[in-house]
Amino acid sequence: MPDNYLPEVRHQYEALPYPPCDPQDDHHRLAQTWLEDLPMINHYCFAGKQSFRQGFRALVAGGGTGDASIFLAEQLRGTNAQVVHLDMSAASIALAQERARIRSLTNISWVHDSLLNLPGLGLAPFDYINCSGVLHHLADPDLGLRALLGVLRTDEQPGSLGLMVYASTGRTGVYQMQSLLRMVNGTETDAQRKISTARALLASLPPGNWFLRGEDLHHDHRMGDAGLYDLLLHSQDRSYSVGELIDWLGDGPGGHGFHLSFSDVQRGRAPYQPHMVLGRQPPPFIEALRRLPQRQQYEMAELMIGDIITHSFYATRHAGTIAPYGDPAYIPFFFHEPLTGDVAAQVFGSSGGQPFRLSHQHSGVSLMVNPGQYGARILRLIDGERSFGEIFAQLRAEDAASAVIADDATLFADFKDCYDTLNALERLLLKHPQSLA
Ligand SMILES: C[S@@+](CC[C@H](N)C(=O)[O-])C[C@H]1O[C@@H](n2cnc3c(N)ncnc32)[C@H](O)[C@@H]1O
Repeated sequence: MPDNYLPEVRHQYEALPYPPCDPQDDHHRLAQTWLEDLPMINHYCFAGKQSFRQGFRALVAGGGTGDASIFLAEQLRGTNAQVVHLDMSAASIALAQERARIRSLTNISWVHDSLLNLPGLGLAPFDYINCSGVLHHLADPDLGLRALLGVLRTDEQPGSLGLMVYASTGRTGVYQMQSLLRMVNGTETDAQRKISTARALLASLPPGNWFLRGEDLHHDHRMGDAGLYDLLLHSQDRSYSVGELIDWLGDGPGGHGFHLSFSDVQRGRAPYQPHMVLGRQPPPFIEALRRLPQRQQYEMAELMIGDIITHSFYATRHAGTIAPYGDPAYIPFFFHEPLTGDVAAQVFGSSGGQPFRLSHQHSGVSLMVNPGQYGARILRLIDGERSFGEIFAQLRAEDAASAVIADDATLFADFKDCYDTLNALERLLLKHPQSLA
């Protein structure tokens, strides 16, 4: 491996592979990563039309101890799809390989190298590249991104990225602790002594300390030495605001021109939308905020909510890779929770068609939703098999005796607030029948 990496960072991940893991756990549990659920990738990156069975190729760059690679490989088991796991840490790859061995997975290839060398490794092209928690640890994150783009599929079915980088606002206290520890540790180079100092300092801090004030946002420092080192003692670590990300990867001057679909773990797009962040007690000007350009809304929401510690998102060549709402051929399905049409219909039908307060426990989101005239009835018919067109036809058959028969456009408009809300929470996604072929 040419020296295309930061030696101190490599040393850290050889000594303290991340995330810390015991491969034996794979005997009884599958770790899932938020972005790598195939139905999510399909909805956001392939317009809901990807079958994952036509030679699909995924790269996990800086894959660490294997969470994303193992999860992808498990879901792709039995297909001709291929997963490539690349990392510069041999110790991390060894742990990931042991996990794959325990699971008898044979669809992962292992590459011990720097991701900066990707364009010369002869591995391209990839339909999907995961790079989670890695770019912000490079001396030049844009060089890393360009190396990834160099192996991303670019033909008529362009590939997409699933990225995670640190978020500035939620990590305010982390950076204060990192600065403090650099001062306290001075010229100390021994990792174990730095870890002991960090633990002792954490135990002595007064309650006003900013890391302690926001400590509940972080859990890495409670995940043994590897987690603590990664969070508070890293030698190369930067973060981004949502605006900086849109500038860099999106349509900022000199940006890469990608479309970004943000999806926070468990909360989806909700933390990026002021009306969802402030939904408990919206200020009088909330509707005016909703009319602002999306970028401004996202930037304001990040500051309002304060607790986004990482930005997880899909970067796609254009917005047309997102499964479109409004096409009757698409099949809606509930996701991330064992929700059934009947249960959803009960919740959305409780107000008799009037706006009602939806309090969503898993995400902590609470906001007013307009279920429309047909929302509850549409939700009841969602079973992951019927398309919108079939659901609407069923509604029309039920209403055959009525004077008013709603057409598809009317039904889509009526259901829009329900869809927007549930989709923002990643509880309602779409797939095209082509993905089942
Ligand atoms: C914080 S860990 C993230 C691991 C994994 N992606 C995850 O989300 O759990 C960062 C990983 O990136 C790897 N890494 C950092 N710089 C790299 C480079 N230039 N080339 C390849 N891997 C790199 C490290 O070895 C480490 O395994």
